[in-house]
Amino acid sequence: MELEGKRVALGVTGGIAAYKAAELTRLLLGQGAAVRVAMSEAATHFVTPTTFQALSGNPVLTDPWDASAAGGMAHIRFSREADVLLIAPASANFLAKAANGIADDLMSTLTLARDCPLLVAPAMNHRMWNSPATRRNVATLTGDAVGVLGPASGGQACGETGEGRMLEPAQIVEELIAHFQPRRLAGKRVLMTAGPTFEAIDPVRGLTNLSSGRMGLAVARAAREAGAEVTLVCGPVSLPSPRGIARIDVTSALEMRAAVMRHVAGQDVFIGVAAVADYRPRIASDQKIKKTGHPPPVIELVENPDILAEVAALPDPPLCVGFAAETRNLAEYAEKKRRAKKIPLIAGNLIGDGFGGETNTLTLFDDDGRHALEPAPKLALARQLVARIAALLENPHAAR
Ligand code: PMT
Repeated sequence: MELEGKRVALGVTGGIAAYKAAELTRLLLGQGAAVRVAMSEAATHFVTPTTFQALSGNPVLTDPWDASAAGGMAHIRFSREADVLLIAPASANFLAKAANGIADDLMSTLTLARDCPLLVAPAMNHRMWNSPATRRNVATLTGDAVGVLGPASGGQACGETGEGRMLEPAQIVEELIAHFQPRRLAGKRVLMTAGPTFEAIDPVRGLTNLSSGRMGLAVARAAREAGAEVTLVCGPVSLPSPRGIARIDVTSALEMRAAVMRHVAGQDVFIGVAAVADYRPRIASDQKIKKTGHPPPVIELVENPDILAEVAALPDPPLCVGFAAETRNLAEYAEKKRRAKKIPLIAGNLIGDGFGGETNTLTLFDDDGRHALEPAPKLALARQLVARIAALLENPHAAR
């Protein structure tokens, strides 16, 4: 549970997306957060306070003049007892008031009176979102260190299509989890690879491996949570990327190398999580290879370029981090790879622990020796790896 012990004050303003705030409440509770809900008058026309009361297990604040609640100061105390104030959905009207310090109703008053960070998940018609007034208000809020989550593009309740849909509840929860992570890589640029590569034999067959991309996507998410600008070069995987990642999809090792080399300039960190094929067929037939009845064809292989080693050998390389998946002798082989590729840090995992699943067991190897991490979900391990990378960036000779 990623939000254990966190107190979330959830403000729901008027808009059709208000119904999604019910699901959002459920997901927040599922991550261990304590949730208190306040609703604008308009929001109560879309969903009833009873829904949020039943879901959150707490009374719902709807009336700034409710003298019976908290000595008549409920709107002041509401966000004072929270770790974050999240307004979802946030209407254009609410954004305008929040940007200008107006406090003439419940939601704008408790926002102005807050003593905690503010995150907003806008939801409105795309013309309202793109209007000069809303653009100005969003710029003001961003300048005031308010986190603006989304919005997304797509079909809207009014039947039109465009930017202005509220993020899905699960995406908002992901953003909230990110909000509570230390910003260890703020301002840094991270380039990385993930997933397998696929080396074509003919148009329908090829050589590949069982990497699911999960470890790499977890590292991408952890780096982004830590404040980095992340570019992910990803082999063929079926999983979606975390939000806020620039993803370049590739198929073969040669394509992966080309994409990496195109983007490596100006990067602070390069992380090779991909299980890159060491070899590819020398010739990929452009026609499907037919069964002839003769002895089976022999596929001649040639070695692929080592992307990580090439990046590490650049004149002014980023901090290079590798991964090593082994079936045995993990420490010996991982160290050997670290030295051969001349990289400061490598994360070793055993194939049985790491390939495919949701969890992994990592051991980090660097100049200080080895550091075994407890078996854990891949995201938890990725955050520890990011912490180590941040320490190395700070001081390349940092002792753990
Ligand atoms: O995707 P998952 O299912 O979550 O599984 C994750 C994983 C097991 C694939 C991942 O944790 C992992 O260990 N990735 C590296 C796999 C591996 O063994 O790579 P390698 O030993 O072939 O290469 C060592 C390092 O060099 C790696 O950082 C690799 O990305 C890099 N490399 C290798 C060959 C090559 N031609 N170019 C490279 O850049």
